[in-house]
Amino acid sequence: MGILIQNGRVIDAASQTDCIMDIYIKEDMIASVKDSIDRHDPCDTVIDAKGLLVLPGLVDMHVHLRDPGQTEKEDIESGTKAAARGGVTTIVAMPNTTPVIDCRDRVEYVVHKAEQVACVHVLQAGALSVGQKGQLVSDIPGMKSAGAAALSEDGKSVMNAAVLRKAMLKAKECDLPILDHCEDIDLRGNGCMNEDSNSVRLRLPGICNETEDSITARDVMLALDNGVKLHLCHVSTYGVARLMQMLKREGIKSITAEVCPHHLILTSDDIERDDPNFKMNPPLRTPKDVEALREALADGSISVISTDHAPHTRADKSGSMRTAAFGITGLETSFSLIYTELVEKGVISLLQLVEKMSYNPACILGLPCGVIKEGHPADLVLIDPNAEYVIDKDDFVSKGKNTPFHGRKVKGRVVRTICGGKTVYKG
Ligand code: DOR
Ligand code: ZN
Ligand code: ZN
Repeated sequence: MGILIQNGRVIDAASQTDCIMDIYIKEDMIASVKDSIDRHDPCDTVIDAKGLLVLPGLVDMHVHLRDPGQTEKEDIESGTKAAARGGVTTIVAMPNTTPVIDCRDRVEYVVHKAEQVACVHVLQAGALSVGQKGQLVSDIPGMKSAGAAALSEDGKSVMNAAVLRKAMLKAKECDLPILDHCEDIDLRGNGCMNEDSNSVRLRLPGICNETEDSITARDVMLALDNGVKLHLCHVSTYGVARLMQMLKREGIKSITAEVCPHHLILTSDDIERDDPNFKMNPPLRTPKDVEALREALADGSISVISTDHAPHTRADKSGSMRTAAFGITGLETSFSLIYTELVEKGVISLLQLVEKMSYNPACILGLPCGVIKEGHPADLVLIDPNAEYVIDKDDFVSKGKNTPFHGRKVKGRVVRTICGGKTVYKG
């Protein structure tokens, strides 16, 4: 008994394919992809995908699941359901939980819990330093043996370069990429939005671009000197966009970068009043930054779009931006936002969307997904490209309702998500 998807517009970045085809799924694998496949088994489920896009399931390298310790914000079950609703079939969970995921047992905890309650594939990142305190390198080989897929100090930077260098050497030994949050804590100070004329108008403390630019430059050099794979998280500035273009010109492949939908679509000027739904780290920047990010995305210097899905409780996101938590949710809005604002408006092509939201992140993580081809995992998403709807935070299955996109009109709706050969979401 398999699943036969007929007449969909199949988009595969690996083979640069964009054509109407049929796909046959057997168990958890893609068994064949052809112009036309007949139903051979009367027990097969047949899905008519006429008029729909069929893409490899999205791979989101940057998600906060808040488990253990902050499950009032999100947990593995609610977070993976949110992923499935957004067409995402693989996520990387960040380790800034309570306690921090910085050792073998805690990676095992997530791996086991995910086996029980997750409806999409969950990969766990391990912290670079013990307790994310930036002083002692964590047990990187232990976490690797428990299944950690990457390393990250996300939420902050390892400010001590000697500690980071030691961690890099271990990461290299274990062949794990570092997902790098670049932020100079002293330059950030008590800033809560970008430092510009709007922060002056709102009388809110600002965060300058150098906060991100300076640590990025340091970490890129450390990574190059030590031969470790470095992936820059949530790039938000003109400077880092240009740096990535420079590295691409030099042919350097070991440094990669991601950008989030909000940094591509919103600017600091969209913050009309002191509203914590617009507070995230790094902050929304200026039109000049957004333009450079879009350019670097389109020319391939920035190869990944991920969400930094950061769910918080209502209480944590109430009051002033000065004191509210950093972060917005992303899993349930990323596809339609990027499709509407970047693909429909001609900034990137649909094939590039698939590359950046599925194929490239899978490659960076060394995963076989992100490809629609015989013998690859049956992780797929079906999308109605003409369906228009209004984003409503109250429809989210995530526990986090904190989004600046509530009420925004978008196009491109996820109608079905298949993960490991099973339908995990149906709209
Ligand atoms: O906005 C953010 N939220 N940025 C981060 O780096 C951390 C994240 C969180 O954990 O909420
Ligand atoms: Zn971060
Ligand atoms: Zn994050």
